[in-house]
Amino acid sequence: MEVASSKTRKGKLLPDEGVFSSPVFLALLIQLLAFGLSYLMYATDRWQFGGTLSPYLLLIVHASLAAVLSFLLRMSWWWWLIQFVFPFAVVASLVFQLHPGVSLAIFVSMVLLFWSTYRTQVPYFPSKSSLLPCILEQLPAHDDLSFIDVGSGFGGVSVSLARLRPQQSFFGVEVAPFPWLVSWFRAKWAGPRVCFYLKDYLQLDFAEFDVVFAYLSPAAMPGLWEKVSAEMRPGTQFMSYEFTVPGIEADLTIKSNANDPVLYVWRI
Ligand SMILES: C[S@@+](CC[C@H](N)C(=O)[O-])C[C@H]1O[C@@H](n2cnc3c(N)ncnc32)[C@H](O)[C@@H]1O
Repeated sequence: MEVASSKTRKGKLLPDEGVFSSPVFLALLIQLLAFGLSYLMYATDRWQFGGTLSPYLLLIVHASLAAVLSFLLRMSWWWWLIQFVFPFAVVASLVFQLHPGVSLAIFVSMVLLFWSTYRTQVPYFPSKSSLLPCILEQLPAHDDLSFIDVGSGFGGVSVSLARLRPQQSFFGVEVAPFPWLVSWFRAKWAGPRVCFYLKDYLQLDFAEFDVVFAYLSPAAMPGLWEKVSAEMRPGTQFMSYEFTVPGIEADLTIKSNANDPVLYVWRI
């Protein structure tokens, strides 16, 4: 492990509040713009050359334009991916004429997995297993330690740490029902010192924990830091994987290897 520094993408084009502040709105505008530009290309080709461009090429142009515009407009990286895949998904559902039940099942699964991502701006994506030794290295050894993963996804971080520190207590809080349900089952196997809550972390009191760990997104960090500063007790630790707090230098930055994201640690 090495001490490191890292840059996160930040800066927002959107206003701070209201419907237009949502990245979903910007994503929709980008899709419309990409569609308009590729349609212009299609119309010009028809008018000038009698329609030589294949529909698949136009689809790739549309998807690439949407991804590049998302990048240029400083959307988070997962939006580039969503924006690229979205036009293919729409065309595939039309071409293969999916049964409405299949479309509904896909939609419901997505809702249960991503739940209020449009509001929190924190989608589900797992941390790397190389993160665990970095956390362990900083975790105090006393038996009554309580650790919480805020935005615990499928519960991997807390369950894995609990295996290595069986005397300590590991919690997680997750707002999306499907990952929470999986973590709830995993906790049943992991024993009484592992527990996952289904709620928004804003409803928890961070004063109850010795270590608060988060892997969220740049958008969540300023609000999270406010909660950490207001509620965490002196002598406790706040850790954030990959995303730092703007303007607040971490006490430690840890990396397990050069290509991995940084674990930032603040001593409260
Ligand atoms: C990037 S994933 C991290 C998963 C897990 N901590 C890990 O390291 O593998 C972030 C998770 O935070 C959850 N989340 C986002 N905002 C939340 C909130 N306000 N309260 C609880 N969970 C939240 C998301 O649903 C998502 O599952």
